[in-house]
Amino acid sequence: MTSADFTNLTIDPQRLWDSLMETARFGATAKGGIRRLTLSDEDRQVRDWFRRACEAIGGTVTVDDCGNMFARRPGRRNDLPPICMGSHLDTQPTGGKFDGNLGVLAALEVMRTLHASGYETNAPIEIVNWTNEEGSRFAPAMLASGVFAGAFTREFAYSREDRDGRTFAAELARIGYRGDEPVGARKIGAMFELHIEQGPILEAEGKMVGVVTGVQGMRWYEVTVRGQEAHTGATPMHLRRNALLGAARMIEAIDAIALRHTPDAVGTVGLAEVRPNSRNVVPGEVFFCVDFRHPDEAVLETMEREFRAALPATLEPLGLAFEEKRIWNSPAVQFDTEMIGCVRKGAEKAGFATRDMVSGAGHDAAYIARVAPTTMIFVPCAGGISHNEAESTSFEECGAGAQVLLEAVLAYDQRFG
Ligand code: GLV
Ligand code: MN
Ligand code: MN
Repeated sequence: MTSADFTNLTIDPQRLWDSLMETARFGATAKGGIRRLTLSDEDRQVRDWFRRACEAIGGTVTVDDCGNMFARRPGRRNDLPPICMGSHLDTQPTGGKFDGNLGVLAALEVMRTLHASGYETNAPIEIVNWTNEEGSRFAPAMLASGVFAGAFTREFAYSREDRDGRTFAAELARIGYRGDEPVGARKIGAMFELHIEQGPILEAEGKMVGVVTGVQGMRWYEVTVRGQEAHTGATPMHLRRNALLGAARMIEAIDAIALRHTPDAVGTVGLAEVRPNSRNVVPGEVFFCVDFRHPDEAVLETMEREFRAALPATLEPLGLAFEEKRIWNSPAVQFDTEMIGCVRKGAEKAGFATRDMVSGAGHDAAYIARVAPTTMIFVPCAGGISHNEAESTSFEECGAGAQVLLEAVLAYDQRFG
């Protein structure tokens, strides 16, 4: 088959759905979601499955020393760097079946379609599974794609610890996915990432495909508030230094900062640890994490300034000390114009209504855009719900996303013909 015939290729939505449901068993939760923390035993299981599936269609799988997996199908011109399609197979602690998984398994479906038809691309094609996109076990998010793109050093990634003190490096070796290839050594010609929207816009507007033009900026902070442990019954209110009260007022302040910069700003405290966490001890220490996002860096700067001013203003009157550190700054990203055009063309050809959008969630594509032309495709998820076991994208929506991914990759491949 030649490249002129590419309009006839269609992905098999049932085969894609079966792969999604089969891999959802690795870390399946009682509520129908997935708990597959990065570098856990469940992550190893899904990686093994993915490797076998790629090898079954003749793919050559390479693993780099950050655990990123690349499955290659040669093209006519193997001197060219590959056109990549990928996302991540790790999930949140109470994650859904589609965040990340759809991007990797739809890429597998595209490669299966090419394989079954014997279609020969000009450039080689690769599927990528990026390690630790979620950042939930080892902060920050998009860690190994960040190392690949030079945003972090490999040693920084290796030294990240989970809340139990286990390191990224030790867990990577434990599950057998510390490969030989130095991370970032491989050339990428382009990367397409299909993902669920994780917000409500496509569904609300009845559009099947989001043409993603970029990713908003994100900043993460860690805060420790220190007061004094004391007996809840015997310590009068005016003599307490209650760290949890201070943290609660900061959570309120963080919410207010985001609200001041609406409609585009968001601000969240999603993780908090209270010490000693005993019902009859005035809390002596609270650790919490802050997540601020906005498409405009200047607004993020203002939000950061307001947050840093709120800390002493809120905590000092309560007799509390604090430490604060910004641990992540992922600037806003603009995707590649030519690739965006391929997504638009692909969606049109497949007959789907589109809408341009900026991603609210972080994605590996945001870092890969630093080293290669990159873009993303979104499909809807029910009620915009994600990072939730109830996350739901339909059979038709998954199939539509995979078809647009195929069309976009083949459209981009034409430039090498
Ligand atoms: C990653 O999923 C993020 O948006 O935090
Ligand atoms: Mn994701
Ligand atoms: Mn996610």
